[in-house]
Amino acid sequence: MRKKIVAGNWKMNTSLQEGVDLAKGVSLLLKKLSGNEVVVAISPPYTHLYEINKVINPNILLTAQNCSYEEKGAYTGEVSPQMLKSANCKAIIIGHSERRKYFYETNSNLTKKINLCLSNDLIPIYCCGEELKERKKNNHFNIIEKQINEALFHLSNEEFKKIVIAYEPVWAIGTGVTASPEQAQEMHAFIRNVLGKQYGTDAANSTSILYGGSCKADNATSLFAKPDVDGGLIGGAALKAKDFVEIVNSF
Ligand code: PGA
Repeated sequence: MRKKIVAGNWKMNTSLQEGVDLAKGVSLLLKKLSGNEVVVAISPPYTHLYEINKVINPNILLTAQNCSYEEKGAYTGEVSPQMLKSANCKAIIIGHSERRKYFYETNSNLTKKINLCLSNDLIPIYCCGEELKERKKNNHFNIIEKQINEALFHLSNEEFKKIVIAYEPVWAIGTGVTASPEQAQEMHAFIRNVLGKQYGTDAANSTSILYGGSCKADNATSLFAKPDVDGGLIGGAALKAKDFVEIVNSF
């Protein structure tokens, strides 16, 4: 079902103690926001998940930043969806552009990750986004359509219902250059249309599509006001409890 979601992606930041303190801070501030209908997710580094699970408000969706595409076995350094589930994770970010760029993740491997998430009853937050050069060539719609088509369209209608999508233009991530609300709306509407052609209008209208890329307290309100923007995937601004909760409160 389409929900408003604000997810914090901490990336490779915070020591264990800093992470626990940040999670406690978010939990505490959220308690004061009674009546807020937004689903809040936080995505700390793997090493912090177990401890953070003990201290957060149980309504916060504990989320991992990545997972293995293999189920188990001799894959040194990997962490499986099943392990993440056993640490009480409820969702996993799949295909973040930093993983695509620095760790050479391909749409075909992301497909395997998504399948494993679903078979473990975890919500995949599937990221897509174009680079600046692609937008300049006016190729951004093709790129996004391909990323969605190759990684998601093998799913059945039933499986697809569990997917959350995050549109994160690469040129906006960590740069301070946010997509304008109009640019975000244009792409989110396009994505919804692409989803509709494959899974039907009802399914497309029930999918949460988040925006990510320099989303902050001072621009979240105008981005979230757009009809096809259902929330945000927040990097830098998720590292301060007050800033993050202000974004949660921006609807
Ligand atoms: P940013 O990161 O908010 O720091 O731009 C967003 C993301 O990478 O998910």
